This record gives sequence, C-alpha cells and structure tokens, in this order.
Amino acid sequence: MSICAKRFTQSSFLFLALMGFNSLSAVSFAADAEAGKSTFNQCAGCHAVGPDAAHRFGPQLNGLTTRGAGAASGYDYSNALLKRVNEGLSWDDKSLDAYLAAPLSNMPGTKMAYPGLQSADDRANVIAYLKTLNPDGTIVGEVVEKVEVIKSDDSKERPLAIDVPIPEHGILHLGRVALAEEISAWDIDIRPDGQGLPSGQGSVLDGGELYDAQCASCHGVFGEGEGRWPILAGGQDSLTDERPEKTVGSYWPYLSTVYDYIRRAMPFGNTRSLSDDDVYALTAYLLYLNDMVDESFELTDQNFLDIRLPNEENFIPDSRSEESWFAATTEPCMNDCIEGVAEVIQRARVLDVTPDEDNDAQNGSLD
Ligand code: HEC
Ligand code: HEC
Repeated sequence: MSICAKRFTQSSFLFLALMGFNSLSAVSFAADAEAGKSTFNQCAGCHAVGPDAAHRFGPQLNGLTTRGAGAASGYDYSNALLKRVNEGLSWDDKSLDAYLAAPLSNMPGTKMAYPGLQSADDRANVIAYLKTLNPDGTIVGEVVEKVEVIKSDDSKERPLAIDVPIPEHGILHLGRVALAEEISAWDIDIRPDGQGLPSGQGSVLDGGELYDAQCASCHGVFGEGEGRWPILAGGQDSLTDERPEKTVGSYWPYLSTVYDYIRRAMPFGNTRSLSDDDVYALTAYLLYLNDMVDESFELTDQNFLDIRLPNEENFIPDSRSEESWFAATTEPCMNDCIEGVAEVIQRARVLDVTPDEDNDAQNGSLD
C-alpha cells in the first residue's frame, strides 16, 4: 500500500466514503449498473458515451450490444477484431466478459491496449452499465426533454475554400488569405519565456481527477505508463544510464513544453478537447507526480515562469554556426532574392523524388 499513500488526499477519502455507501445499497444485485458507471472511468480515456459521444482512441460505446461487434460507423477497427466479427463474434455478457478480462490475450492483435479488468464483479457491473445506453447515447428508460437547438441568425456558414474566388496574389494563385480566426486557432504555441500562455489556473487536486479519468488508462495511475504507453514521471538521475528514462520530470527542459504538448496533442484520440484551465491542472498534476510540488499547489499564468524543470540547463543553444565550418560567408537573402517573375522549372511528378523499390533505394534520385 505504501505506493498508494501519496495519492490519498482529501478528495480520494471522500470518494472512498461514497463507494462504501454505494456498495451497501447494491449488495442484493448481481450486477450493478451504477457501480459500473464509476468503473467505466477507467475506460473513459479511450471510449466516450452519451449523446455527443465521438470516437476517441477507441470507438464510442453507445448501444454496444444492439449495434453489434465492430459496428461503430466511422471507426477504424483492427484486423484482429474484424476477423473475429467475420467469424461470428457478437457482444453479449459472455463474450464481453472474456474480452474485458484480458483484451490482449482474448483477441491477440486488438488495438485495445488495456490490461483488462481483473475483478469479475467489476466486469459484470461495467457490462450492466453499457447495456443502459441506447444507440443515441440516452439512458434506457430515462425520459429526456427535447431541447430545440436554435441556430443564431449570424451563424452563417463559412464558404468552402473551393467556392471562394481565388485572390490575385502571385503566379501560382494558391488558396486565399487565411482568416484571423484560422490563424489564431492554429497559432497556439507557447514559448519558454511564457509568450503565448493563456490566462488561467488549475490545481493539483483538479488535475488528479482529470488525469485519473482521461490519462491514467494509458500513462498509468502514477505516470508509470501502462503497457508500452509513455512514462510521464520518475527517471530522475537516470540520464547517464545506458537506458535513460526520459520523462517530464527527468528530461524535459521547460514547463511550457508540457503545457503546449498536452494542449496540442492529448488525450490521444481526443485532442484539443481540454480547456485551458484543464491543461493548467494537468500540468500541475504532472509536476506533483514528479515530486516537484505538493498537493496544495495551484499553477497559474502568474506563477508559471517560477517553475523550472531540473534538466533545463543541460539544453544548450546549438552554436555550431559560429564555427568556421558552418559559418555562413554572407548574410542569407530573405526577400526579393531573384530578379523578375518566378518561373516553374520542374514538376514534382517528373522530378520523381520517391525512391523505386529495388535499385533506387539509396539515392532519392533526380531523374
Ligand atoms: C487504452 C485505451 C482503451 C481503454 C482504457 C479501453 N479500451 Fe476498449 N477499446 C479500445 C480500442 C482501441 C478498441 C478497438 C479495438 C480493435 O479495433 O481491436 C476498443 C474496443 C472495445 C470494445 C469493442 C467495441 C466494438 O464496437 O465492438 C469494447 C466493448 C470495449 N473496448 C470496452 C471497453 C471497456 C468496458 C473498457 C474499460 C473497462 C475499455 N474498453 C477500456 C481502447 C481502449
Ligand atoms: C489512448 C492513450 C492515451 C491517452 C488516453 C493519453 N495519452 Fe498521452 N500519450 C499517448 C501516446 C501514444 C503518446 C506518445 C505520442 C508520440 O510520441 O507521438 C503520449 C504522449 C504524452 C506526453 C509526452 C510524453 C513524452 O515524454 O514524450 C504527455 C506529457 C502526455 N502524453 C500527457 C497526457 C495527458 C495529460 C493525458 C490526459 C489528458 C494523456 N496524455 C492521455 C497516449 C495517450
């Protein structure tokens, strides 16, 4: 138990108390959908459910037992799963129980890189919970008030690029000028000096809840990495080992990289779904998992630059351009470098930079 002690904060204590209450009310049922709903937190990093559920790393799981195995439209299943579907797999209590107990040995080659649920009760409960979900994501037997979505008048659809007249700019007439919104949606990088950091804040405690629900299924409850998913914590003092463990705590140079990376790329399969405050909270929690702050810490845009990662000073500017071998002899030309109008002198099709399978392999040749 000692490894767990660190995480038993006030909020997990409350959680335990609630669990106790729940199981009291559930003793007489074989499978408890309500308990299954909290077990489903372990799945939620990869699987969405509910009316707006989209595919994440795994398919959304609405109406699983009625829609059939491998049948969520628009999801790219593994060949292993599709093969089993061809052989007649359908999802019922028994087949789900076997799959969820040990996905990777039950279905070698499945994309569900998840160790499985060891407890038969947990499996029965989570299956009972999945069966309460209609194909449209509503709960079986629950009356939902229809809310009419009113589209505001100014929500004019933006024209597709193909319908927009091509502006006159340059000989190749490429595209159109990007809108300010398009640029700001794309321009989200954050620099080590804090430039680009949105205002906001998030605490270790909030980050812990988000992490358990959305990250732990891949990165492990303590950041130790499930299976072969990346490790996010530990590895301090291992950088000179033969097999260094490079984590946010041991290796990464700047906290801005952590914030930027999570905001841009995580959770895997459902990127750009986190709010700025969520990302502050998760970044704070990763500092906590790496023993750099305590559990009462809150990260904000104000104290962000005070945090320095331990390995920062081992990242040095690449100054080789100052050495004579690399030094540029003249200033590089940055504008109007060619006189006259640009001319197309070669076409990629003809240029043929793709090496042929056999004889061309080592020389991306210019025919
Ligand atoms: C690490 C991510 C991950 C986690 C965690 C995870 N799954 Fe999956 N799951 C997947 C992926 C990916 C697939 C697609 C499998 C394939 O194509 O081989 C999948 C497939 C499934 C399927 C089959 C869906 C279908 O349409 O046929 C079920 C059922 C399922 N998962 C249930 C669960 C449950 C219940 C849990 C939690 C106890 C869980 N999964 C946890 C990634 C995950
Ligand atoms: C479905 C599995 C999955 C989930 C869920 C997930 N990640 Fe990841 N994460 C990955 C993979 C895969 C990579 C490596 C991606 C790559 O190298 O291109 C990664 C990389 C990372 C890294 C960089 C690690 C390194 O050292 O390079 C961080 C930080 C990270 N994830 C944070 C998070 C956070 C925070 C969440 C929850 C909001 C999350 N991840 C949810 C799969 C996942």
